[in-house]
Amino acid sequence: MEKFRSALDMVTALKPDLPVFAARPHAAGRAARWFINNFPGEIAYAYKANSSVFLLGALYGAGITQFDVASVAELEDAATIPGVRLHFMHPVKARHAIRKAYFDYDIKCFALDSEDELQKIVEETDGAKNLELFVRISVPAKNSRVPLEHKFGISGQKAQRLLVKTRQVADELGITFHVGSQTTTPDAFAMAFEEAKSLIVKAGVVVDAIDVGGGFPSRYNDSIPSRLSDFIDVIKTSMDKMPVTEHCRLICEPGRALVAEAESLIVKVDLRKDNSLYINDGAYGALFDAAHLDFSFPVKLIRADLDPGEALVPFEFWGPTCDSIDHMKGPFMLPASIKEGDYIEIGNLGAYARAMSTRFNGYGEYKDVILQDDPMYTVYSADVTPIALNA
Ligand SMILES: Cc1ncc(COP(=O)(O)O)c(C=O)c1O
Repeated sequence: MEKFRSALDMVTALKPDLPVFAARPHAAGRAARWFINNFPGEIAYAYKANSSVFLLGALYGAGITQFDVASVAELEDAATIPGVRLHFMHPVKARHAIRKAYFDYDIKCFALDSEDELQKIVEETDGAKNLELFVRISVPAKNSRVPLEHKFGISGQKAQRLLVKTRQVADELGITFHVGSQTTTPDAFAMAFEEAKSLIVKAGVVVDAIDVGGGFPSRYNDSIPSRLSDFIDVIKTSMDKMPVTEHCRLICEPGRALVAEAESLIVKVDLRKDNSLYINDGAYGALFDAAHLDFSFPVKLIRADLDPGEALVPFEFWGPTCDSIDHMKGPFMLPASIKEGDYIEIGNLGAYARAMSTRFNGYGEYKDVILQDDPMYTVYSADVTPIALNA
């Protein structure tokens, strides 16, 4: 894998025609160390966010040995990492996936949010007695960019009944929730804990583990979150008030927060029409979130003779496919002189970007490199002020 000090060094040396995934494994390592040092429980990386071997290696090297997987393909991949503990936290799994996970990969930890799924797990594990079962409860989304409460989660009396039924078959009973991805304020976690507490009391069950899911934020141009330490404080305070024993496990499953700043995409401008830039990756590639969720990722023109005083003006991006929804409206602030052949670094794209890219229209091929400089934004330094763009 080729390493460069910066995107400029890479572009100067390679003049790449393909879009380039520029991994910063040191940033993933820093994020992992922060969670290990600050989260008062176990950390399972949400594999779906980015399964690049460079980032997985950095997370593992920093001490992350638990992974949240959501499919057979993910678990088969993750199981190749030595000594890992896998959690199969998708609340709806195919029967063959449950059987394979339990019998072939020794996975005992499963999420569920319905009695039918519980029945499937019991049947497909042949009534196993060593299961760790996590009931996924529905919690309100508060200041989340990607709310997740509509698809999964059980609430009210149904949740109480499911907790009781799950307790009867589980060796370890857990409660899990997800406050929604890119949640920018920690009160979402306080509200979720309140919901979990009320269900435990009403169901009258002993709970052995609380899994607070993911949702920890990264930094984007249009999304400036509370400090991560504020999230940890709220989780600690909420956990202290839970009707559980001191032996109750506390687990989190961050995806975005561990990898978002650890990868950039370097794209090439194929054409400029006024303030529209036609670039060589887009909505069907790594820019799904920019196209469909309007994420405003930081951008930087990569040019050796960049004039730092040049005014930045708003641009929109169009991807390489023939489809008109291959459009990222931005605005992406870039120097007015940008032109065909220029390269742009699109930063903090480590979460759910590489993972979402498709081969539509024959695109979806990338070059991979490693960069050694800092990401455009970090939420892990004491001073969280972003480094100046285009500097
Ligand atoms: C069950 C589960 N855990 C963890 C995550 C990771 O969430 P995030 O990337 O917001 O931290 C997800 C994301 O969808 C999820 O579905």
